[in-house]
Amino acid sequence: MKTRRAVIGGAGAVLLAGLGGLGYRAWDRGAFGSGEGPATAPWQEWRGRPGDGPRRPLHAAILAANPHDTQPWLFQAMGDQITVLADRSRSLGSFDPFRREMHLGVGAAIENLMRASAVFGYAMNVIVNGGRLTPSPGPDPVKAAHLWLDAAPSGRDPLFEAIPNRHTNRGPYREQPVSLPALHRLADLVSDHEVRVAFIVDAKARANLAALIVAATERIIADPQMSADSARWFRTGRREVLAHRDGIGIDTAGLSPLMAAAAKLLPDQSAAGVDRYWLGMTRDVQTIAPVLGFILVQDRLQMGSAIAAGRAWQRLHLAATDMGLAAQPLNQPVECVDRNAMLGRSDEFAAALTKFAQAPGWEATFCFRLGYGERPAPPSPRRPLSAVLVNSA
Ligand SMILES: Cc1cc2nc3c(=O)[nH]c(=O)nc-3n(C[C@H](O)[C@H](O)[C@H](O)COP(=O)(O)O)c2cc1C
Repeated sequence: MKTRRAVIGGAGAVLLAGLGGLGYRAWDRGAFGSGEGPATAPWQEWRGRPGDGPRRPLHAAILAANPHDTQPWLFQAMGDQITVLADRSRSLGSFDPFRREMHLGVGAAIENLMRASAVFGYAMNVIVNGGRLTPSPGPDPVKAAHLWLDAAPSGRDPLFEAIPNRHTNRGPYREQPVSLPALHRLADLVSDHEVRVAFIVDAKARANLAALIVAATERIIADPQMSADSARWFRTGRREVLAHRDGIGIDTAGLSPLMAAAAKLLPDQSAAGVDRYWLGMTRDVQTIAPVLGFILVQDRLQMGSAIAAGRAWQRLHLAATDMGLAAQPLNQPVECVDRNAMLGRSDEFAAALTKFAQAPGWEATFCFRLGYGERPAPPSPRRPLSAVLVNSA
């Protein structure tokens, strides 16, 4: 017969075994760390080395913003020439049916590439490929831009210095307003003949735009194809993050460190569970900010306009980072415009966005929020540069 002591010992052993199991799971899931390890190593290697020659700026290019962290770019480096390709195999499918967001991501990489080149002593010349984005193109890479380098005096650039500190911040923002001079500086930095920016600061207009972003999120999660295509890029747990070094994960979801650890220890959520969480975060946290805004172009489905808009977002986010501001794209309404266009369905989102922006002849291609983050955002994973260099000599 078991004694009471033996029974207590047995229960203790079970408890210890349980804790041991929890410890293993915590380690296996990377529950208590974020932003460290090989998946984020490129953020430490962002300056490259002098011996890298004309390829050196590519270390900075791969740290650009891009949709769902798909990193949809390839680089062909031949001497002092670099061709940038959109890697259409890394697409969001029905979430980005025209690959418009993909080209914004490629544009963001070109912006980092140009900034780094200037600092490393090269004048970078660029020709962006034109053409119209069409629905559901095949997976072959397409040339997006051709760049060539000339020697030039190097200079200091605060936006270049901001490259390793720029991270999408999905957590809560403080109520503190952003000053008008700061917004004017940002607008001047990104506005040109191809791109405009609109900042919405009025409380009522912000509430209306926030409601539109929430309505678009509801529409997306009710669309099984969009939900599934987005879910293909979710990465949970340490192993998955290490294996892919891309995609959307718990660390960058905007949770507090404690909530992130708890979320990693729980069993993986279904796509529907993640969608519900996304909707809640969009409604209760991510549409609450002192500034909402858009990037506008004359035709969002021109490849060149998409690349220019991506360059503008990267520049704006780098400048915001330099000014101590947090930023997050919230592009659900434009994703709905594209999805409706692809299906030949009537659309109410484009007209609503145009009304907010009050810029006849221009249309929104990108929505975002700006403010002062309550917490810093961690770096997102990146594949190594070697994984995106092709046919280079
Ligand atoms: C065209 C485009 C659309 C994006 N849309 C969203 C969005 O709707 N919501 C969001 O939280 N992040 C969005 N992002 C941010 C990316 O998910 C983010 O850049 C990527 O995961 C890499 O992380 P990083 O910006 O911190 O380096 C978007 C980025 C781009 C370039």
